[in-house]
Amino acid sequence: MITDVNSYMTSINEAADYISSKIEGKTPEICIVLGSGLSPLADMCEDSTVLPYKDIPGFPVSTVPGHDGKLIIGTLENKRVFMMSGRFHYYEGYDTSVCTLYVRVMSKLGVKTLYLTNAAGGLKVGMNPSDLMIITDHIPFFCESPLRGPNLDEFGDRFPDQSYIYDPEYVLKLTEIAKENGINAHRGVYAYTKGPQYETPAEIRALSILGADAVGMSTVPEAIVASHCGMRIAAVSCICNYGCGIADNKLSHKEVMEVAGKASEDSCKLAKLFVKSL
Ligand code: HPA
Repeated sequence: MITDVNSYMTSINEAADYISSKIEGKTPEICIVLGSGLSPLADMCEDSTVLPYKDIPGFPVSTVPGHDGKLIIGTLENKRVFMMSGRFHYYEGYDTSVCTLYVRVMSKLGVKTLYLTNAAGGLKVGMNPSDLMIITDHIPFFCESPLRGPNLDEFGDRFPDQSYIYDPEYVLKLTEIAKENGINAHRGVYAYTKGPQYETPAEIRALSILGADAVGMSTVPEAIVASHCGMRIAAVSCICNYGCGIADNKLSHKEVMEVAGKASEDSCKLAKLFVKSL
């Protein structure tokens, strides 16, 4: 929860000013968050400037192996883009206001579209490891609201509507792109859990009954803040495993990363074609 609005706003403004000084007036309108498997997208970026998070004043630093923590500013499909390589998870010990600070920085910089990606466990019959899932809605029951505490009026309303967090036009666009390009992408509801432990079989059964199609430990706090800021959001999960108890094997981070790697080509293709279509 934001306890000190002044110092929080100072961090946002310092980070935005620093990034602004590196983009020579050419502000990207889209920010892509590179979840597991999407890191090759950073290499597809042309004319890029790389800003390690540790050099950005006010930015937290990621602690997860494989999330190396840098902001890439460059060109993809002739569009200026920001790419966040490394994000901040609640399970690392950050407060949700810290996990989502970058979203507010992006909003301050003028970003209009946030493209979120993540690794997730699949709960739906027919949703197999290495398939993608276009997120249509989410279940944030286990997520402390990142908007708790004083409202930041300059970003949005105290009680923001959540009817269409994931932009319906983007959902349609992603569905069409996937279909036209032979990418196996489902649509579904993403449930957030705090982690870092994977869910138990009982939790997975409960989440399925509640209407979730996939489960993961990121994305939802960021999407809530982005919607508060009035951004349009697209989000895609890479299904890396069956939710615990659905298949007869234990879950491991190593396996999740391996599957995300295998699905990387499709994940990157979908993101690239989405950017192209804007
Ligand atoms: N649960 C939560 N997070 C995940 C999973 C899962 O099964 N797979 C990848 N990230």
